[in-house]
Amino acid sequence: MTDHIQTEIRDRVLHITFNRPDKKNALTHAMYACIVEAMRAAEDDDGVRAILFTGAGDAFTSGNDLADFRDSPPLGADAPVTQFLHCLLQAKKPLVMAVNGIAVGVGLTMLLHADIVYASEAAVLQAPFVDLALVPEAGSSLLLPRLIGHARAAEMFMLGTKVGAEEACTMGLVSRVLKADELMATATKAAAALAKKAPRSLMLTKQLMRGDNDAVAARMAEEGKLFSKQLTSPEVLEAIMAFMQKREPNFG
Ligand code: COA
Repeated sequence: MTDHIQTEIRDRVLHITFNRPDKKNALTHAMYACIVEAMRAAEDDDGVRAILFTGAGDAFTSGNDLADFRDSPPLGADAPVTQFLHCLLQAKKPLVMAVNGIAVGVGLTMLLHADIVYASEAAVLQAPFVDLALVPEAGSSLLLPRLIGHARAAEMFMLGTKVGAEEACTMGLVSRVLKADELMATATKAAAALAKKAPRSLMLTKQLMRGDNDAVAARMAEEGKLFSKQLTSPEVLEAIMAFMQKREPNFG
């Protein structure tokens, strides 16, 4: 598989760490595939009661690897990223996310599927889909406006506006903001506490809080079609080339 994902089961919690700090933990196909395998195994394992995500180094994740987007665009239901998004949507066990730094693209949209999100003071959230000539994914075009309102979601999606930890907490995207050196201890303790709760009660509570997933699944499918179409468009290629060449994109 890949060293870029670390997994470990401790105190009945599956710890998943994005471990590619030199690339700000940008997620490759191989990394998604590895996470999917670990999440599916955890769902089937009564010994695992919660899943905790974090990033190594100073980033949570800078989102999808842009070279992968350019060289082997993930298209369709079999793409590891699509499977990852479905794992998030269908997760029965509680998901805790410890956002230790920048969370871009899927780094932000995955938080919308989490149950508890702790962020360090250094966390910055960004969803620059339009900057990349893409569209939102992971059901976020439904979930983010629902959570923070259309006007603020439009700033994030359309302008690519960055949101700091405190603001994200005020908006309800984050449960609590912590000092950097307290983040992991607090998140680990919360995940371990969840792992000791009555599992069926926890699962039913999560289901009730999430409500009917069908609308989110339908939106994800719709986003997926548009995302795939955009991925192979000249404007996305220009946006990715501009990022790699460290220049402004020119959309004509
Ligand atoms: N895909 C591939 N490589 C990425 C990446 C990504 N999503 N994000 C960062 N990297 C790479 C950079 O190219 C750079 O590589 P290099 O050292 O070989 O040049 C390295 O990670 C460090 O990134 P850098 O941009 O120098 O760090 P920074 O602290 O100045 O900025 C980010 C961090 C995350 C704000 C910035 O890298 C960024 O905007 N990345 C793109 C995010 C993105 O658009 N994600 C997709 C969303 S759908």
